Amino acid sequence: MSHLKAWRAAIVHCIADPKDVGIDAAYEYYQDGLLVVEGDTIYALGDAATLIPTLPKDLPIEHHPHAVITPGFVDTHIHYPQTDMIGSYGEQLLTWLNTYTFPEEKKFSDKAHARDVADRFLKELLRNGTTTALVFGTVHKVSVEAFFEASEVHNLRMICGKVMMDRNAPDYLTDTADTSYQESKELIDTWHNKGRLHYAITPRFAPTSSEQQLQLAGKLLSEYHDVYMHTHLSENKDECVWVQALFPTSNNYLDVYDQHKLLSERSVFAHGIHLCDDEYHRLHETGSAIAFCPSSNLFIGSGLFNLQKAEDHQVNVGMGTDIGAGTSFSMLQTMSDAYKVIQLQNQNLNPIKSLYLATLGGAKALRLDDKIGNLAVGSEADFVILDKKATPLLTSRLALSKGIEETLFVFMTIGDDRAIKATYSAGQCVHQRSSDNSSAQI
Ligand code: GUN
Ligand code: ZN
Repeated sequence: MSHLKAWRAAIVHCIADPKDVGIDAAYEYYQDGLLVVEGDTIYALGDAATLIPTLPKDLPIEHHPHAVITPGFVDTHIHYPQTDMIGSYGEQLLTWLNTYTFPEEKKFSDKAHARDVADRFLKELLRNGTTTALVFGTVHKVSVEAFFEASEVHNLRMICGKVMMDRNAPDYLTDTADTSYQESKELIDTWHNKGRLHYAITPRFAPTSSEQQLQLAGKLLSEYHDVYMHTHLSENKDECVWVQALFPTSNNYLDVYDQHKLLSERSVFAHGIHLCDDEYHRLHETGSAIAFCPSSNLFIGSGLFNLQKAEDHQVNVGMGTDIGAGTSFSMLQTMSDAYKVIQLQNQNLNPIKSLYLATLGGAKALRLDDKIGNLAVGSEADFVILDKKATPLLTSRLALSKGIEETLFVFMTIGDDRAIKATYSAGQCVHQRSSDNSSAQI
């Protein structure tokens, strides 16, 4: 048992969706908790006073009296090649893509560039406490190879895919239906389920794929029982009008993907803002998920995601940053924007529900909840140590907190990367905040 290690702090994690069991039954909280890890796996979780006497006397315990431990965050939609174009001014989706995104993604034909960005991207995720993400590459096969190679170094559970796009984009950024099928297949054969890595078939969105390419994407999805499908859906009103013009026989936007057999239990659709009831219904029926990306939806002016409707239809929902249309790598900041998006619809987003969406809900959307998403015994030891004294404002505000729900809500409202004291992936420390709170180390 010498390979056991323990962390003592306040500990909170979700065990169910608040919509199914109510807020109180959806989480477990230990005010003075102990998280015990054996190698890469959670070995025990409980009250420190109860657990410690049952464990070996020489067990190393790291004590964080001013911290809250949560599961690592799960980002269900993000573009690693857009890391360096975050904060691009003044456009909505379609002009934003042409003006900023496509020229930036062109650079990823160069593997050395791709690897440099992938390394910095992963460091940024880890310094924000995100341990798993569903990630877009670019159209270039090497962009995905670089990403997986970088992820492997830190033994991270990551999902990525090569963008498929054969029309309505610059020549320098298009493939063909056949090459996209072939290259995606090669990437799946090499990388899918290698260690903690998984592959996502990634048609960018309906407007940039021909019918033939979408059909081959569907064929690929049918050829592998557990690969993912990752795309965009109904983000922007002009986009929706364009999709209707490009696919006149489809009943609605989602139906374009449905007609090409792209809906599945491992299909994740980013945004889903302007959906009709039939679309929610099909998402539910097929076990597909929506990635709710509030900071992106606000930043490029796409609209307000209707979480209530998605819940009414029992659609799986995760949360995503959608870098670089999103404005922060921080899932805490993303939860802050989610709260505001829901406020604008005259509803409230409970902090436990937010935590759920950013951890176990995301893991469920990705069908990884048997491995990650909470701190249940047997889960992979991906977790975050949040520092209640990370900033002067957090210190003074949290001194007045009356309980864990309020504490979480304050972290979500004014917390960001500074609040992440350390991040662990599979039991290993992958980020330790430096003491001056200014830079990250791995
Ligand atoms: N729709 C198609 N491509 C993109 C992209 O790169 N970002 C976002 N937010 N939406 C898209
Ligand atoms: Zn996106």
